[in-house]
Amino acid sequence: MSVDWTVREILNWTRGYLQGGGIGQPRLEAEILLAHSLNVDRLHLYLSPDKSLTEEERERFRAAIQKRRAGVPLQHLIGEVGFFGLRFRVGAGALVPRPETEELVERALALAPRERKIRCLDLGTGAGVIAVSLAKFLPNASVTAVDLSSEALELARENARSNGVSDRITFRESDWLRAVEGRYDLVVSNPPYVPEEEIGRLAVEVRDHEPRLAINGGKGGMERIEALTRDLGAHLHSGAAVLLEIGEGQGDAVAALLRQAGLTEVRVETDLSGRQRFVIGRCL
Ligand SMILES: C[S@@+](CC[C@H](N)C(=O)[O-])C[C@H]1O[C@@H](n2cnc3c(N)ncnc32)[C@H](O)[C@@H]1O
Repeated sequence: MSVDWTVREILNWTRGYLQGGGIGQPRLEAEILLAHSLNVDRLHLYLSPDKSLTEEERERFRAAIQKRRAGVPLQHLIGEVGFFGLRFRVGAGALVPRPETEELVERALALAPRERKIRCLDLGTGAGVIAVSLAKFLPNASVTAVDLSSEALELARENARSNGVSDRITFRESDWLRAVEGRYDLVVSNPPYVPEEEIGRLAVEVRDHEPRLAINGGKGGMERIEALTRDLGAHLHSGAAVLLEIGEGQGDAVAALLRQAGLTEVRVETDLSGRQRFVIGRCL
């Protein structure tokens, strides 16, 4: 990057640089990272394409695009992500929330009773996106958010605070249900479901930068789901709904696990891209 490159020139150069590193949307990511480095929004770049960058701005941007080309997820570099219309801090301590999980939350909200106080449980809360969204959009709910990772729980607590719902979320460091007490009306989980044998083939962003604990589903991707559904029945109120996010080809096996846990009306639903992605059941 020459000393007096303008916004326009830097963006053009960076598009090629990121493309050379196999980044899928190089122009868009160049704009996002430049706007972040300059502490402005993307529109601002279009309004001042001839602006020259200061040395400090160039250095900040250079460091960011080098990391991005090396595979650091864009969201880790930006430090936050939008989920269900809310803002969440993200980092290396927890999974970067995915858009499919917004569809899981949407279904959970549709099944949640509104006319009485309810207890919700988010198993494997990560950065807290499910727990915080439930608390935010269900004023009648108290939520328990569980994770085995203290780093993830730290991030989730911060996200609950910044979204103004910490008073209605209890955080538990627990191996699934081990330290969880009582019964719930709504249980939602996006568990680790990537088959262990496929982790080596994942994109570098996921394989090398997301916590293994968050993605590794064990053999066939089913071991964590088996563990979390084992004692589930004992934690459900009559009429409770359970919603799980699943991986490719896991629908029938996870549906069978929910039936074993005592659930009825178990069904597999597809996400917006048409893939089987959710298993939903009810406790009689
Ligand atoms: C796929 S991530 C989901 C994170 C977040 N709920 C989301 O949807 O973005 C799975 C989460 O389960 C947690 N986890 C893995 N094993 C666990 C266990 N044995 N007990 C509790 N949580 C666990 C991981 O730390 C991780 O945060």
